[in-house]
Amino acid sequence: MQIFIDSADPNEVRQAYAGGLLSGVTTNPSLAGKSGKPYAETVTEILNIIGPEDSLSLETIATETAGMVSEGQRLSQLDHRIAVKVPATPAGIQATKILSSQGIKVNVTLVFTANQALAAALAGAHFVSLFVGRLEDKRQGTGIELVKEVRQIFNNYMLASRILFASVRKVQMIAEAAKLGVDVITVPKEILDQMLNHPLTTSGLNKFLQDWEKSKLQLPG
Ligand code: E4P
Repeated sequence: MQIFIDSADPNEVRQAYAGGLLSGVTTNPSLAGKSGKPYAETVTEILNIIGPEDSLSLETIATETAGMVSEGQRLSQLDHRIAVKVPATPAGIQATKILSSQGIKVNVTLVFTANQALAAALAGAHFVSLFVGRLEDKRQGTGIELVKEVRQIFNNYMLASRILFASVRKVQMIAEAAKLGVDVITVPKEILDQMLNHPLTTSGLNKFLQDWEKSKLQLPG
């Protein structure tokens, strides 16, 4: 399983990458707008931060297949680590088929049903982004149920697309996603920062350090 950061802010990506756990970055037009920088600058900066085998997802803006295909081709030429995001609409699925047949990695986004996920996989998507949090916002359990259904379908037919657990709302979703067998989870920085928090770790460490101080011992070596 891999963890990506869901951000289009290079400073945030840099800080999160320093934690040593990340294998990629996902962006979307809303996140790009929030960063307040020219997009080309943002993309170059993020490409300079991520590793040589990592992935950066950039979303197309066109709503028709031809536009998605030409934007996708343009974006993918920037760097081999770029995955092109297209929505799970009929036009997006057609674009996925065309782009993936050209060897371009496609991330089908805004996936809310198992049927959309199946269509994306059959069209050759590299990533299928399940928007778990947005479904959970509407009704508890529905997002998690979607992940289970899609895992089962992909397993049944050995579909190679990677399940990307997106739209994360709370830190507990990271372990939940791992239990459900997703391939990737993309997590906002503020939630990623909570991943190692536990009050017993904090209090336990304080106690160890106080006891060590009292003992006047030195580390060997
Ligand atoms: C990831 O690729 C998505 O763009 C993202 O996880 C959406 O999250 P949101 O529902 O918090 O906007």
